[in-house]
Amino acid sequence: MRVALFSAKRYDRLSFAAAGAHGFSFIESRLDLDTVGAAAGHVAVCAFVNDRLDEPVLERLHQLGVRLVLLRCAGFNNVDLRAAARLGLQVARVPEYSPHAVAEHTLALLLTLIRKTHRAHARVREGNFELDGLLGFDLHGKTVGVVGTGRIGRCVVKIFQGLGCEVLAHDPFPHPEVTAPYLPLDELLARSRVLLLQCPLSAQTRHLLNAERLAKLPRGAIVVNTSRGAVIDTRAVIRALKSGHLGGLAIDVYEEEAELFFADHSDEVLTDDVFARLLTFPNVLITAHQAFFTEEALGAIAQTTLANLYAFAQTGKVLHGVQA
Ligand code: NAI
Repeated sequence: MRVALFSAKRYDRLSFAAAGAHGFSFIESRLDLDTVGAAAGHVAVCAFVNDRLDEPVLERLHQLGVRLVLLRCAGFNNVDLRAAARLGLQVARVPEYSPHAVAEHTLALLLTLIRKTHRAHARVREGNFELDGLLGFDLHGKTVGVVGTGRIGRCVVKIFQGLGCEVLAHDPFPHPEVTAPYLPLDELLARSRVLLLQCPLSAQTRHLLNAERLAKLPRGAIVVNTSRGAVIDTRAVIRALKSGHLGGLAIDVYEEEAELFFADHSDEVLTDDVFARLLTFPNVLITAHQAFFTEEALGAIAQTTLANLYAFAQTGKVLHGVQA
């Protein structure tokens, strides 16, 4: 079965080759209405987080004879599932590749931000061994609110309990394994010195952290978002950072990341003024959607994607389907 893999990077070629993939065309472009033609002659497309799978793209894929969309990620907010169902296109995802990869990146971001190791590293390389400006705080004993206790959120809860934090949780579907107390969102916000966002992007979670909810956080609170950019209202967050109400922000995802992330723009003028403003804060740390990016996760993504493909080839049904 021929598969057109969009947004292909060198590491995708390597991980899919190692998993034994055959019949894959690796297409560097992001999938959108301009590039969709490259899917001609393929039964499936393999897409990533910033590929566009809205109704016009899905219709075109259907016209080209594509029958299957293989998402090589967990989130599926970029797919119009109703349109896919209407067109008879199956959509598969990789529900779990390494929740630890993302949970550990949440910790890495938070520790870097609050202990300022990125700034210390730059100073030391310049021969500046001054500590002034690098003052951090202990995580031990602090209250940490975790929004979303799915596969990743549950790892996050355990990690922060292990650090001696008082962990609070919020999720419309509490999980029996989670030993942290579940609270209504507003109560959790009011008590969280650190807020960790681990929920998927949906109509309900879009701008979950808006101006009103930011105001409920204690002054000086730190927010980390490794879920999806639009869970945060970025403009409201910038206002909270400017006023000093928000003490710091670490993000691996950004609302408008599709135009920026996974590519080298270092020679270009940055036209996104909101992102440019974020870059000016000393207490903002940004990584470009790399929380998933570990050897273990890439291997598991390739293997599960192939398992979805083979199941479709043999039975007409994928293993990990996503329905509207
Ligand atoms: P999951 O599906 O196992 O868990 C999501 C949890 O969020 C569920 O327990 C659900 O009930 C909860 N939830 C839904 N609506 C909520 C709300 N309004 N408030 C609080 N909780 C809510 O998903 P998993 O694997 O834990 O992943 C979570 C998200 O992390 C993904 O949907 C994806 O967007 C993001 N992600 C980011 C990656 C990165 O590289 N930065 C990599 C992988 C996932």
